[in-house]
Formats: sequence, structure tokens, C-alpha cells
Amino acid sequence: MSTTNNRAYNFSAGPSALPLEVLEKAQAELVNFNGTGMSIMEMSHRGKVYEDVHNEAIARLKKLFAIPENYEVLFLQGGASLQFSMVPMNFLQEGKKASYILTGSWSEKALKEAKLFGEPVIAASSKENKYRNIPTLSEIQFNSDDAYVHLTSNNTIYGTAWNEFPDTGDVPLIADMSSDILSKPVDVSKFALIYAGAQKNLGPSGVTVVIIRKDLLEKENKNIPTMLKYTTHVEGNSLYNTPPTFGIYMLGEVLKWVEAQGGVEAIARRNVEKAGLIYNVIDNSNGFYYGHATPESRSLMNITFRLADEELEKQFLAEAKEAGFVGLNGHRSVGGCRASAYNAVPVEACQALADFMVEFQKKHQ
Ligand SMILES: Cc1ncc(COP(=O)(O)O)c(C=O)c1O
Repeated sequence: MSTTNNRAYNFSAGPSALPLEVLEKAQAELVNFNGTGMSIMEMSHRGKVYEDVHNEAIARLKKLFAIPENYEVLFLQGGASLQFSMVPMNFLQEGKKASYILTGSWSEKALKEAKLFGEPVIAASSKENKYRNIPTLSEIQFNSDDAYVHLTSNNTIYGTAWNEFPDTGDVPLIADMSSDILSKPVDVSKFALIYAGAQKNLGPSGVTVVIIRKDLLEKENKNIPTMLKYTTHVEGNSLYNTPPTFGIYMLGEVLKWVEAQGGVEAIARRNVEKAGLIYNVIDNSNGFYYGHATPESRSLMNITFRLADEELEKQFLAEAKEAGFVGLNGHRSVGGCRASAYNAVPVEACQALADFMVEFQKKHQ
């Protein structure tokens, strides 16, 4: 537990820490939202009170993430996993190819779904290197007539992230930004479509944000189910059917919190500081701890590391849990340790973990 309140040091990979201020505000508003005598969850999504919350969240995300005018922001359901299917279902025409850059398990899952609709090809992959790195821009191969190029901006499981995105010219670039959206400024105009499950940097699970360039909609396949077409949700302002109203309200509150922190640039500076505290311990441990990602591909969101001794690694995780650190076990598919330091994880929690790691090394070296 943190010393200043009853909050755990939460390093979970997602769902993950939400800002305390947001949780407290939601708690205060839970049974009577803005004097309506109702919770936001209990009212119609067609009424003005909810619609204002919904539209404000869209406007705030556009402003904070500097989303240009020619893009739409959608709030969908089905998680980022449904986007793995919706992207090829909408934009991969029969006989056409799409290029997928493989940087981890989530990109592999996206590729698997695309195979159901067309002929995805692998534009680059770091699989042989156990996904320790992001391919260099010069390694990426795609064709000018590809339907799109797909990448995963931050690899939650392996702890790697892109520093610079490829320029794909006229070929639409599509990114899964589930685990680093809003963690730093991004030139949205490089992308035709960005998607992200909300449950890391944006709010609770149940909402998926899609940022789509309007001209891409013209290429959409027509013979697909209504709910799975992007145009349905653009035309309905993400209100075609009942949206996850509470999740969208929470997302709106998280965005207000980001704004109050000084916006995405201020958040990005803090994220560099936070991850730096933990990477520094790893780098100065003389190999007691070692990172999974190569230094130039390190993620600021998911810090993956191991201990040289496997028994000691188990002990580290057990003692860390005992000391009040939550969510430090690596993903079940790769093991090891992972500290997820998303936007809402305070500097204090990262400092506490860094101190704990130093102390653990001193005791067990
Ligand atoms: C990068 C990335 N993509 C996709 C997913 C899957 O997201 P969802 O559970 O919202 O379908 C995750 C989940 O952790 C993720 O980290």
C-alpha cells in the first residue's frame, strides 16, 4: 500500500490503475449525477445529459491528442480484439494484400484475423529475436497497392515500443495503440486508423476508441453486418445502439484529469521520469536484473525484466506482493516480471518499486 492513502502500488497491465481523483469524483457523482437524482448509468443514452458527456469526451480527446479535423472519434465495444477483425473485414478486399508488422503476440492475433478476410503478408518481424526489439524502418517491406499496413505501437507483453513510425505514403497506416495511447504526443496525421481498448490509459474496460480518417470510410466493404461497419458508428455518432455509458463517462473524466496534469506533453515527461526510475535500477544492477527489450526499443508503459536466478525471481515476486506491489508478474505466456507504469501510475509508486528493487538486490546478492 502507498503510505499516503489506502491505494495499492498498482502495476497491472490492464485493466490498470485509474487516477484516484477520477475514482473519487465518480464515487461522489455515482448516485446523483449533476442534480438529476440518477446515476449516469441509469439514464437514457438519447437524453441531453448523457449526450453532453458523450460529446464532451469526443471533443476533449480530439483536443488533447491533437486529432485533425478530417478524423472521426468513435467509442465502440468488443475491445481491441474486435478491431483485429473489424479492420480487415472493412478494409481488406478479396484478392488484396495487407502488410502486418509483427512485434509481439497482439500483432500475431491481428494477423490471424486478417487471414480470414484476405491475404495479409508479414512486412517485418522481430519474432526470431523473441520480440526484444522493434524492426528498423528500413527492414519494413510493403507494397504500394497494399490495402493497409498494420502495426502495434506498444507491445504490452514484451515491453517494446516504436520510437518513430514508418511513413507509408498513400498506403493507409493502421495502429493498435491499446497500451500507449495518450502516453505521449503522436502525429495522428500519419495514421488512417488508430484503435485502443480503454483499459490502460483511457478508462475502464468496455470502451474501445477508434480514430479514423474520413477518406478511409470510402473504401469500406459494403456486405458486412451493420454493427461491424465503421460508417454505422460514424453516422450514429457512436450512438447507433446503446453505448457503454458509464465507461464513456469515466473516459471523459480521465481526459479531464490528463488536461489538469498539463496535457499529453506533461504526461509524457512524467512517463519518461517514471520508467527511468525503474530502468535505472535494472541498468545499474550489474546483471542482477536484466531487461527483456533492447534499450532502443524499450517501452515507457510496460517495463519487462527478469532476475538472473529463477528461484530468486520467484522470491522477488513473492516479496514484492507482500510489500504491497500489485501486478508485477510477467504475462503468463512469457513469465518474468513486468511493471506497467501507465499514465495514472504515480511517480511515488515507481519510486517505491525502484527502492524495493535496490533493497532486494542488496539483501540477496
Ligand atoms: C496491444 C494490445 N492490443 C490488444 C489487446 C487486447 O485488448 P482487448 O482485451 O481490449 O481486446 C491488448 C490487451 O492487453 C493489448 O495490450
